[in-house]
Amino acid sequence: MNERKIKKTYLGYQWALVTGASSGIGEAFAHELTGRGMNILLIARSEDKLSQLAHVLEQKKVSVRTYAVDLSSIGAADKVASWCIKEKIEPDLLVNNAGFGLFGTFEQHSPSEYADMIHLNVRSLTELCAFFLPAMVQRRRGGVINVASQAGLVPVPYYSVYGASKAYVVNFTYALWGEYRQQGIRLTCLAPGPTRTAFQKRAGSKSHGYMQQPREVVLSALAAFERNRPLVVTGSGRWVTSFFPVHLIPKTTVVSYVAKIFKPEKRITSLAKEKSSTGE
Ligand SMILES: NC(=O)c1ccc[n+]([C@@H]2O[C@H](COP(=O)([O-])OP(=O)(O)OC[C@H]3O[C@@H](n4cnc5c(N)ncnc54)[C@H](OP(=O)(O)O)[C@@H]3O)[C@@H](O)[C@H]2O)c1
Repeated sequence: MNERKIKKTYLGYQWALVTGASSGIGEAFAHELTGRGMNILLIARSEDKLSQLAHVLEQKKVSVRTYAVDLSSIGAADKVASWCIKEKIEPDLLVNNAGFGLFGTFEQHSPSEYADMIHLNVRSLTELCAFFLPAMVQRRRGGVINVASQAGLVPVPYYSVYGASKAYVVNFTYALWGEYRQQGIRLTCLAPGPTRTAFQKRAGSKSHGYMQQPREVVLSALAAFERNRPLVVTGSGRWVTSFFPVHLIPKTTVVSYVAKIFKPEKRITSLAKEKSSTGE
């Protein structure tokens, strides 16, 4: 019998686009998705790290492309979309993972730092959905995983702008899920708790207690995505933020409690102290 070999791909998808793929959770997504036979486009600013990762992933006999761009700059998402058109790459899975937080009192950081964060965590994420989702809807195949945070589920003093940016991601993804769930499009918001990556250092914070490995987080995200769950919360604290009826408690009580947990004296890293003493 003349049997044709048909290459099985993850959920019938061909290409994944992962932002923030050069480290942490994004890098773990890249390993898991290529392990499932997907071709991948890796995006972040660090060209060297992306090339090194691409070299490793190519051993799995999948196509790997890299595109270095600063997603906190204006027009960055347009550049990604135009590049994909030029290279004839049509992502079936968009993983909007790139993001960062800034820890400390609100006045500790500058307006431009906040603008960069909002641009990356909110604006580019939205624009990338707007660029790639319509084609998925047309094909009736595809999905998006938007990476938020447990900090997006309750107001978090000392992570005020970061938490608010991630609250946007939670609500935005839920809303899209409501619009597209019956059109063959999967939409999942991943809200991780503390995870062992470069995140804490960049934020200028120390995390207390148990931290998950990025791979554990990604496996939970993919399991939820496969079942088209709109939200998956991972890590320590998920019982409080996702199962405990937080909405029944007055918000002022919740905020006072969270403020105690995130008191800067407990969490500020030597790096952040150095920064403030040198006036950077
Ligand atoms: N780790 C945690 O505890 C935790 C908890 C909740 C949510 N999260 C979320 O998880 C996501 C991934 O973070 P992570 O924990 O894996 O931290 P990470 O190791 O610092 O990774 C962040 C990734 O985003 C990329 N990135 C940062 N700024 C960028 C920019 N302006 N343009 C393009 N890419 C940029 C970084 O690459 P380059 O530096 O090369 O650009 C890196 O690949 C973030 O959205 C974060 O908010 C993390």
